[in-house]
Amino acid sequence: MNTRVLTGITTTGTPHLGNYVGAIRPAIAASREPGVDAFFFMADYHALIKSGDAARIERSRLEIAATWLAAGLDPEKATFYRQSDIPEIPELTWFLTCITSKGMLNRAHAYKAAVDRNAETGEDADAGITAGLYMYPVLMAADILAFDANQVPVGRDQIQHIEMARDIAQRFNHLHGGEFFVLPQVQIDEQVATLPGLDGRKMSKSYDNTIPLFAGGKKALRDTIMRIVTDSRAPGEPKDADGSALFTLFRAFANESETVAYRQALEAGLGWGEAKQVLYERIETDVAPMRERYEALMADPAGIETILLRGAAKARAIATPKLAALREVLGLRSSAASGASSTKKVAGAGKMARFASFRDADGKFRFRLLSADGEQLLLSMAFADPKAAGALQKRIGSLGATGAVLQMKEQGMTLDVDGEAVAETPDYADASARDEALLRLREALGQLATKA
Ligand code: TRP
Repeated sequence: MNTRVLTGITTTGTPHLGNYVGAIRPAIAASREPGVDAFFFMADYHALIKSGDAARIERSRLEIAATWLAAGLDPEKATFYRQSDIPEIPELTWFLTCITSKGMLNRAHAYKAAVDRNAETGEDADAGITAGLYMYPVLMAADILAFDANQVPVGRDQIQHIEMARDIAQRFNHLHGGEFFVLPQVQIDEQVATLPGLDGRKMSKSYDNTIPLFAGGKKALRDTIMRIVTDSRAPGEPKDADGSALFTLFRAFANESETVAYRQALEAGLGWGEAKQVLYERIETDVAPMRERYEALMADPAGIETILLRGAAKARAIATPKLAALREVLGLRSSAASGASSTKKVAGAGKMARFASFRDADGKFRFRLLSADGEQLLLSMAFADPKAAGALQKRIGSLGATGAVLQMKEQGMTLDVDGEAVAETPDYADASARDEALLRLREALGQLATKA
């Protein structure tokens, strides 16, 4: 059994060098290790708590996704997705909410800090605090527990959230008497450098001292590096390498011998201006090829969407059956119908087969034929024109139980209309499963024809 490593990236900012060295680079390295299944996602539901600016959330999602891909994340090996593409996450959030003690949430650092700020300014304790901020730790627990993550690499500020996720998982397991959730472990990498920003404090968006990773191209990278604060020692005077932000930044990119040479140069009196130029060139060596990939990705947002949707399908293959099992444990609806896990039932749709239309990743129009139980029986071909898709639904709807022309394949079937294959069934385990599905398909076609 592989170790599942999972982490989320809140989609509010534009990635900077500190994000790259402190989070992205080590996470991608970890995702390549044998025995690891990595789950990385854009935490855009979390972003809603911090920002209501839709354009900013959208842009940030693209930038962050492109950054991770440009930095070498392999979306075929890792599972790379967007939180808001996984409806099981908010569903699990509610299940967990119902067993989470309010007192524990009262103690969450971010919420407490907001309450303390209100106390300082003499406001009502909860003034300006949304229930979203309050519930943040439960949403995060759902992110983690939906996938039974073993390890969660995060920054120190997130430790309490992982502890809460463990606590919630334990409570659920205890209440329902089983190992329903894996208890996640926090992973803090002591080896990973914390980069200093322009002013020498930790590089952070909240200090406004960041060096951009890709934004603004190499000119912005160089210009920002030139603004790093140094002491006033003149060229020729020996510099204190260990006390210098330039040295710490350099070391985060360079190998051992390059680092030794840089230290020696500083100690021998290299001027700060030149030292910055050397630093810039060293960082640019690593960043330039990534920036090229980044720009290509940013020029093709639909390509990024396709990758994220494929990731969501991979992620849901795990989360959907997990939530179906939890629903059963909680006494909610049965998940016995085999296909119920891959398609959502619509409340009030009744016990009839029906069509469900959607647009695929390429923006084309397709539809599914769903059984009364919500099982997917057919998937149509893709249409550029939604009217053509609608016309085909009408045709299929009028075929009736026995009027359909079906081509049998080894594990599935295709539906022919006017001699053209227009829809196909899923692949079934074997020929007898296929033959059973044929009965359900005929039943569904019969229901449609009587309804019409
Ligand atoms: N709260 C995390 C942060 O701000 C982001 C996040 C959301 C996350 N869900 C997660 C991290 C689940 C790890 C696991 O950094």
